[in-house]
Amino acid sequence: MLSTQSLVLALATSAFASPTPALQARDTWGGSVSLGPTKSNIISATTTLIPGLPPTTQTGMLFLWPGMSNGTGDLIQTTLEQWPDNSWCGATKQQWCVRASLFGSFGQLDGTAGVVSANDQVKIVYTRGAVVPGGWTWTQNVTNAVTGKTLSSFAHMSGPMTGWGTGTECNGGCAGTISAQKYTNTVITLEKADTTFGSTIAKAAGATYSGLASSQGGKVWTITTINVPAMK
Ligand SMILES: *[C@@H]1O[C@H](CO)[C@@H](O)[C@H](O)[C@H]1NC(C)=O
Ligand SMILES: *[C@@H]1O[C@H](CO)[C@@H](O)[C@H](O)[C@H]1NC(C)=O
Repeated sequence: MLSTQSLVLALATSAFASPTPALQARDTWGGSVSLGPTKSNIISATTTLIPGLPPTTQTGMLFLWPGMSNGTGDLIQTTLEQWPDNSWCGATKQQWCVRASLFGSFGQLDGTAGVVSANDQVKIVYTRGAVVPGGWTWTQNVTNAVTGKTLSSFAHMSGPMTGWGTGTECNGGCAGTISAQKYTNTVITLEKADTTFGSTIAKAAGATYSGLASSQGGKVWTITTINVPAMK
């Protein structure tokens, strides 16, 4: 059986692969930390990502994201992005674009894009809202954690979410990350207590985490810090 993380990554890969037929180089991955699937359902997930400087020149597409899925349904994924030219969002070569995105059978749907500098604290909040036909309204709200400024926002119907994980994704022969990434104050809230959720944590490619803890009997799970090393 595939882990939730590999399913999340596989979904991300297939979703990102199609818009770039000219670039066929193999995708590679940096470090990651993931949790899931829970025996319950995720009702919200919050983290704050500090991306560091992007590579000075980009030849492919480099993506940093916390993602959420149930393995086979939609992928909720606010993504920091570096393309060969990031002027589409107004970013300089030393900045990232960020947008809240949803991937599913319908393709990719996005919120408006914002600009992120190396030391910005990008607060990414996923919230399950009202019950609607087929699932719930899921909102992605992305803000600068220091100033409160909105960077991107997107809301759409999706089904249940049971896994959460970070990804550093390099497509189309990209220049990999030259800086470490830090995710702080990650909080994943479940519908019902799941005391085993913490034991599903997995890390890959040099990523580390500290301060994994739960409260409310296993309903709320926190990770103080996730560190993802530079790819080179
Ligand atoms: C998301 O942000 C919008 C715009 O600031 C706000 O109206 C909405 O209440 C937020 N939604 C959630 C679930 O936090
Ligand atoms: C994931 O959610 C979708 C609905 O979005 C559902 O059809 C599918 O069965 C779910 N998969 C799992 C593994 O629970």
